[in-house]
Amino acid sequence: MKKVYKAHILFTKEKDHFEVFENGYIAVEDGIVKGVASNLSELDAADAEIVDFGNRLLIPAMNDMHVHAPQVHNQGVAMDLELLPWLQNYTFPEEAKYADVAYAERMYRRFLHTQWLFGTMRSVVFGTVHTDSTRCLMRLYQEAGMGAMVGKVAMNRNCPDNLSEDVDAYIKGTEQLIREFSHLSSLVRPIITPRFVPSCTPELLRACGKLAEKYQLPVQSHLSENTSEIEWVQELEPDSESYGDAYNRYGLFGQTPTIMAHCVWTHGKELELMKRNKVMVAHCPTSNFNLSSGLAPIRSLLDEGLRIGLGSDISGGHDLNMFRMLVYAIQVSKMHYQQDHSKAFLTLPEVFWIATKSAGSFFGKVGSFEPGYEFDALVIDDGVLYPDEYSLQHRLERFIYVGDDRQILHRFCRGQEITEPKVF
Ligand code: GUN
Ligand code: FE
Repeated sequence: MKKVYKAHILFTKEKDHFEVFENGYIAVEDGIVKGVASNLSELDAADAEIVDFGNRLLIPAMNDMHVHAPQVHNQGVAMDLELLPWLQNYTFPEEAKYADVAYAERMYRRFLHTQWLFGTMRSVVFGTVHTDSTRCLMRLYQEAGMGAMVGKVAMNRNCPDNLSEDVDAYIKGTEQLIREFSHLSSLVRPIITPRFVPSCTPELLRACGKLAEKYQLPVQSHLSENTSEIEWVQELEPDSESYGDAYNRYGLFGQTPTIMAHCVWTHGKELELMKRNKVMVAHCPTSNFNLSSGLAPIRSLLDEGLRIGLGSDISGGHDLNMFRMLVYAIQVSKMHYQQDHSKAFLTLPEVFWIATKSAGSFFGKVGSFEPGYEFDALVIDDGVLYPDEYSLQHRLERFIYVGDDRQILHRFCRGQEITEPKVF
């Protein structure tokens, strides 16, 4: 069934400017964009149903490229420690509660509902070490119709006993989830998830690399977030040339599609390796502020040609609203600019492109409205008074900076309208 949506359409095909169709039309069939045009006559729309969104904005949906669903109960609390003591004192005790699937379901429903509110239609997500709770999270995404790569976390050292899982049990649980989810719906897929080098023995990292290769699955982890963490990794993996190289030695750094959160301190050989292996960066500005990790050099990483997306990283980050993440990414780049005027700060089209088309490429053809892209979209009623006094780009900018979830009227993932998920 073909549909044509009419609205003010904005998206970023290229990173340096918005494509803008004032009172434009977009044709969608079987979840895929067929064309965008200023006039209906330019589209093959003879038998299409036409839906008119009037004076609203129609934009690609948000992608959260790094988030810990089981940290939702800690969202907005415990900001008084840096990464390593923060994990031990606040994060691990909370994640241990996910041994109880009933607790997990309650929290995960709440988490998913918030993502839905803010128009995040695709995510790359950490679960916990628990297979049953991770299965629960994957089923909730399936029920909702929202896209996600979800990882059962691999972790067997430097953590409490109740979060440590031995290598055989990790492989068994992961293969169960792979069997259950790989062919059911490609919208929800498993992703290999070693927590980070300090959490995994060499045997466990090797097992993760082998599973990624055997099942051709993507990989996510953390990289070069905090200076104490980086020193610790160098002690644990003394032969590696960099933190990234430690993952690379286990087949966890671009051998299959890979995304690494943070990269605050990435430079030199690590940067070259990421570039060569097409490893994507998940930039998580709020997390970097709250855990006092540092300011990721996103302008430099972007100019080096690295693939980049944005992540909320709750509960290191405090905000699941990805539109605010665009603002924070610009503000971080402005702090760099204030130190060094040769590093131009990020522009609005650049961060929009990073959050949509660049991030979306991790899922396939997602994040743009070019023909062939999956129709992941949001309809925004920005409620602006005197709209004619703003350009459409300024209306979008204003929504990104000060808008909220009440202004998102419709959400689509792969062409399907996503209705409000149930919470209890
Ligand atoms: N490194 C290892 N685990 C975590 C986590 O849960 N959050 C953040 N921000 N960094 C990590
Ligand atoms: Fe994280």
